[in-house]
Amino acid sequence: MTSAPSSIRELQESAEKVMSPGQSKFVRRGSYEDWTRDRNRAKLDEIALNPRLLRDTTDRDLSTTILGERISFPVMCAPAGGQCASHPDGEPATARAAGAAGTLMALPVGSGYTIEEVAEAATGPIWFQHIHYSDAVSEIFLPKLKPSGYSAVVLTVDALGPFDLGKRLHGRGGSIEGNMFGSLRDYDELLDDHGMARWIPPNITWDRLDWIRSLSDGLPLVIKGIRNVADALLCMEHGVDGIVVSNHGGRQFDGGRSSIEILPEVADAVGDRLEVYFDSGVRSGLDVFRAMALGARAVFVGRPVHWGLAYGGEAGVSLALEILRAEFDRVLAFSGCRSVAEIDRQHVLVG
Ligand SMILES: Cc1cc2nc3c(=O)[nH]c(=O)nc-3n(C[C@H](O)[C@H](O)[C@H](O)COP(=O)(O)O)c2cc1C
Repeated sequence: MTSAPSSIRELQESAEKVMSPGQSKFVRRGSYEDWTRDRNRAKLDEIALNPRLLRDTTDRDLSTTILGERISFPVMCAPAGGQCASHPDGEPATARAAGAAGTLMALPVGSGYTIEEVAEAATGPIWFQHIHYSDAVSEIFLPKLKPSGYSAVVLTVDALGPFDLGKRLHGRGGSIEGNMFGSLRDYDELLDDHGMARWIPPNITWDRLDWIRSLSDGLPLVIKGIRNVADALLCMEHGVDGIVVSNHGGRQFDGGRSSIEILPEVADAVGDRLEVYFDSGVRSGLDVFRAMALGARAVFVGRPVHWGLAYGGEAGVSLALEILRAEFDRVLAFSGCRSVAEIDRQHVLVG
């Protein structure tokens, strides 16, 4: 019998053996030439640890708070759509695994199960990731959130229309139907031929963030996809509660900088006036520590959730999270820190 994967890399290898070729590619690939996806990894790997020694790190506390909710360690499940194509238990399985790990899951709008079904399965904090396809779609989805138990809206701002790569849709099957089609079935005109919400211009702009907030009855608003200081500062001006420095794992526009290159300048610019989260390329506890040292409050992982699901459904997502937790705990101790609050920029060397 082969032993269980002990790293995210091994988990990916095991998962890809059981995934359909289409879904495996859909999850693994970036946009166009994968240049930004690969740069995410390359730049993370240029960050070396600078550990401090002879400190007592016997008792360590990995927990932190995210918009006031405590999570047991600073890794959260990213809104990565189409989870049912990786495992039929899909998003509810991820919600249960996140809850069991004491962390948060962000439900992607492109979910195989409805907003209400995932809320029922969840045992921990849940956020809802939204894309503004059209006013009508936002008006249907967002008012459901607060009554269902979601504690924030994550508005993705770097997905500007149907994906550029037709090949990326292969293998998706009905994996996003639960929420899209399930919730929109009575609104034919809002759906395209794939059962996806149709993009109806005008797209969302800064002046409409208050309207988005009002639709969710004032839930905290997190903007996902921030790639520079100017937009981070605008988020602050518009009263946004948190931002995700993210390039979508290199899955939207190819050619931009890696997320980790952008993180420190954004974190410096906003200080503690809003919460800064990070994603794109996190594959180990070492990466979690790197991002925290450069200013992230916590990180999201996307592809590792899909690989966990494909490998073993809920148990596979739990495995992915426990690998990351154990690795992060070790790096924290080796670096001379007892808590996430003690991590700072002096613990890493860039370049
Ligand atoms: C299969 C897949 C589907 C995704 N779907 C969405 C989505 O619907 N909305 C969104 O904001 N981000 C989506 N993402 C991006 C993730 O939220 C996250 O930004 C990205 O996966 C982080 O990079 P990583 O996969 O290297 O961890 C998706 C990612 C994957 C892998």
